[in-house]
Amino acid sequence: AGGSLAVARANLTIWPGYSTAVSAINGGVPGPTIRLRRGEEFAARVQNNLGEPLVLHWHGVLAPERMDGHPRDQVAAGQSYQVRFPVRQRASTCWYHAHTDQLTAEQAYAGVAGFFIIEDPAEAAFGLPSSSHDVPLVFTDKRVSASRQLVYAPSMMDVMSGYLGDVMLVNGTPDAWLSVDRGLYRLRLLNGSNARIYKVALSDGRPFHLIGTDGGLLAAPVSVTSAMLAPGQRLEVLVDFSAYATGTSVMLKSLSFPGGGGMMGGPQQGTEMDLLRFYVDSAATGNATVPATLQPFTPLNPAQARRTRVFTLAVSGMVHTINGQLFNMQRTDFRVPFGDVEIWEYRNTGTEPHPMHAHAALCQVLSRSSAASLPPEDGGWKDTVLVNPGETVRVLTRFDTHSGVFVHHCHNLEHEDSGMMQNFEVLPPPTLTVRRDGTIVTLSWPEAEQGWRLESSGEPSGAAWDLVAQNPTLVGGRWTVTVSETTGRRFYRLVKP
Ligand code: C2O
Ligand code: CU
Ligand code: CU
Repeated sequence: AGGSLAVARANLTIWPGYSTAVSAINGGVPGPTIRLRRGEEFAARVQNNLGEPLVLHWHGVLAPERMDGHPRDQVAAGQSYQVRFPVRQRASTCWYHAHTDQLTAEQAYAGVAGFFIIEDPAEAAFGLPSSSHDVPLVFTDKRVSASRQLVYAPSMMDVMSGYLGDVMLVNGTPDAWLSVDRGLYRLRLLNGSNARIYKVALSDGRPFHLIGTDGGLLAAPVSVTSAMLAPGQRLEVLVDFSAYATGTSVMLKSLSFPGGGGMMGGPQQGTEMDLLRFYVDSAATGNATVPATLQPFTPLNPAQARRTRVFTLAVSGMVHTINGQLFNMQRTDFRVPFGDVEIWEYRNTGTEPHPMHAHAALCQVLSRSSAASLPPEDGGWKDTVLVNPGETVRVLTRFDTHSGVFVHHCHNLEHEDSGMMQNFEVLPPPTLTVRRDGTIVTLSWPEAEQGWRLESSGEPSGAAWDLVAQNPTLVGGRWTVTVSETTGRRFYRLVKP
């Protein structure tokens, strides 16, 4: 896959008869949907024609350090840069958006975002609804002026709560609707809002099936009547319209929920809102059915956690801090050894919800102090975890894909831009020295590096990594393993068991 992503101001007809100023990608809001198969390389030239600094981040996609869209890698107005990396993770609905230093909120609000969908053959085997029955939907809330301009003018109070709007745009469209038949639909729901949290439901309260979260499919569908969707998060659901008569309609909406800010007299967090209306226009039912099981995954084991890191989320004056500090681009706040299982414990001592997001790894929710059992939307692989006021949420994580400096932040974009962000460094694994003599391969690493396990794979993207069974021996101060490549050249890596 290749192509170019040109970000520039544009005027779009969002409301009939009006021209609305936006920041578009290749002329559109949202930007083009990037679709790749697992194992393919993602390549794009990002052209910044915005007239101010810009960098794009591939949210949920595990990208190498300098490709990940860290704000220090932003480019000046008029510049472009090349992105290129292989995508090796399981199928999932990811997205991309601006990640510019202190301009993320404004740029994303103006439209700099799009879907990034990863597919793989394993997922295709479940017979889920496809093509016209596979619908990505991104929710954004706006404040709109009388001349139909998107207003972004956060007050100090807006920065405290995050910028909330009262007009919904779904895939950039107000009063959005979708014509459907009486079949089964796969909806990929993305919360692309700066601060608004949705409690997604059908207006008649009918159950639907939750099949996936941030990092792809769940082990099995879960029937729900509503699900929380915080900024940055994704939910994949199956909705069966065979329950509706042809000629009827049903609204996808956000239900009201208590707690969590908003300005007096302005838009509030947790208010009921219409998202999108489905018109059941055709009697066709298709042949997709809800699978009994989906994609199994191996949960991280809390017993293997090597440490717990505590992140205290607090209010300080008019801003939100992590462990008492605001973001400093030059400071690295903590270091994570490559491959270690860790528990990250979020303690929210304030009165605002914080959807916490770490780059460079996916995680699993372990516990939530406010709930005896986890809600289904906490299931599967996550990259953004909602931490409600007063709550302590623990997640299990492991950084085992890329080393380097990445960011960890609140995905309430006003919180992020006002400093609720950290730098952390994933320390590299030891360098593996590989020497070949015909089919005999000698692998070694420093003696000081204890407890690593050597694995090999037939392909660099490592769909399957196998343990190299030989025990390492110390030779000249290095752990050494000698193997014979009888079935062809292989790739090797060190991982923490
Ligand atoms: Cu979608 Cu660093 O974020
Ligand atoms: Cu991200
Ligand atoms: Cu926050």
